[in-house]
Amino acid sequence: MSGSTIVPWVIGNWKMNPAWASSQQWIEQFKQHLQQSPILEQQCHLAVAPTAIALNRVQVQLDNAPRTVHTVAQDVSRFSGTGAFTGEISATLLADSQIGYVLIGHSERRELLGDTPDVLKAKITQALAEGLTVIYCVGETLEQREQGVAEQVVLQQICDVATVISEQHWQNQMIIAYEPIWAIGTGKTASAQDAQAMHEKIRAGLAQLSPAGQQVAILYGGSVKPENAQELAACPDINGALVGGASLNAESFYQIAQAFAANQS
Ligand code: 13P
Repeated sequence: MSGSTIVPWVIGNWKMNPAWASSQQWIEQFKQHLQQSPILEQQCHLAVAPTAIALNRVQVQLDNAPRTVHTVAQDVSRFSGTGAFTGEISATLLADSQIGYVLIGHSERRELLGDTPDVLKAKITQALAEGLTVIYCVGETLEQREQGVAEQVVLQQICDVATVISEQHWQNQMIIAYEPIWAIGTGKTASAQDAQAMHEKIRAGLAQLSPAGQQVAILYGGSVKPENAQELAACPDINGALVGGASLNAESFYQIAQAFAANQS
């Protein structure tokens, strides 16, 4: 089933980058690109995920961009509200700062920072309760792909958290990002065919969980760059990109967004 009626999302995940001066420069360059050659809202949603320390400053600087560019938190606490949780940022506080989006389940957090399925479930619960939109990341390791269990692993990662996601949440507050771990930061991209095949399986899995699953945006992430964006954008079930390395360059990120937007016009 094609998801091509879904407006794509192109989201830059800046990870633990960059220093503030470079962010400022990036934003000014990106605004200029949007000014010179606009990307319409109905063609593509745009967003960046800076470090927590820069979130609000980036948001303020993007306020006067020629169009909406959302700001996304890279993580959220599994604890709610306010209180004695040193170093944590709750969904309550993100919402309070008008941050409406959050990445949850990125493989770097699963592999390096102890985000187990139970932790992810708690984080999603908090984020959804505060009205945030969750970009839930899934993806298999190279070993799992070679063993032929990639699809099973990815669908299980969705099932792990599905019990806390209602029909309404699927409809309004959920985005999935498929990021094969072996393609992250390696320069290796899943071929458009392999990515599309997995996205189709994910869509079928989502449709089983909820009728709204058909309309959930499923983004691809893993060495997306201007050179491969067009081919990925042309796939019916790839509804955008979660971009790491190439998003640190304003022009590359803009070109990737253009590729997805062009596919909608
Ligand atoms: P790269 O685009 O650098 O491979 O990173 C992908 C990613 O992890 C985005 O979340």
